Amino acid sequence: MTPIQILNGSGLGHFGKKQKPAHGGRLKHGRGNSKYGGGTSYSHGFPKAKPYDICLCGNRRSATISTGSLNEMGHTEMEGAKQRVLRPGMVLLKRYITHKEQVEIVKKCRYLGIGPGGFYQPGYQDGAKLRLQMMCLGMKWDPMSRKYDDTRPVDGSEPPCIPREFSLLVKRAIQDAHALVKKEYHVSNVEDILPLTSPDICIVNFYTTSGRLGLHQDRDESRESLCKGLPVVSLSLGDSAEFLYGDQRNVDNAERIFLESGDVLFFGGKSRHIFHGVSSIIPKSAPKALLEETRLRPGRLNLTFRQF
Ligand code: SIN
Ligand code: MN
Repeated sequence: MTPIQILNGSGLGHFGKKQKPAHGGRLKHGRGNSKYGGGTSYSHGFPKAKPYDICLCGNRRSATISTGSLNEMGHTEMEGAKQRVLRPGMVLLKRYITHKEQVEIVKKCRYLGIGPGGFYQPGYQDGAKLRLQMMCLGMKWDPMSRKYDDTRPVDGSEPPCIPREFSLLVKRAIQDAHALVKKEYHVSNVEDILPLTSPDICIVNFYTTSGRLGLHQDRDESRESLCKGLPVVSLSLGDSAEFLYGDQRNVDNAERIFLESGDVLFFGGKSRHIFHGVSSIIPKSAPKALLEETRLRPGRLNLTFRQF
């Protein structure tokens, strides 16, 4: 993201109030490896954090994912859903991710999330906590330093790789977004409007129903990536979110949309630097079938892909 960067000296917008420091200040840094054993013990100088399980299963076996790959799971649900170009470089594919794909994504995120480098509640430089659980895939983004790295300073763990199925889904979604842009703008080169990307970073956020994220820009990726306007690709699963975006860090002037389970949002090109944030999560809005099959906790799972 630079996902969660604080937007001014005074902190987040009113819906993004930071939580009080849970640990009274900065955690110590160093090398080591996280374990998901829980408790308050230390391993190689790092506090062993209790893993956050995004599902209510409590059963290790249910974390096992099935063998099918996402791109073999059927068609997208473009037909009938409202696909929209919100502004140049910003495209919303409504209910794009199939139910089956959503189930697989939740299961995989749950599986990775309880392992090394999995979900944790990150903090800012001043010790305040973000109101979400985060896990990075591919590269680690650190909200404290606002930098990408190979390991996570809080426990020295390496981020898991981005599952191939996720990358294939993003690739397919970009092709469909391009088709939509072409229809809307009648341009010969759609990549001028929405550049092509090969994401090597995925930041996975889980918001409980009280979770939120203040208005911010994603601008910690490489200068080249930002200059080219390589898009952020965002997948939403579970409960819906009220998502705000605009050209300024101003909640009152921001546009508001609802991101529902299965939606894919792109912001690249001229929209790469929009301010955006999540003002609220809508309780009990997740598809029932998804909850039944995954036992996903109340809340919202969001994956944002970007190319460093
Ligand atoms: C982010 O900006 O990093 C996440 C946005 C979202 O949760 O939709
Ligand atoms: Mn962001």
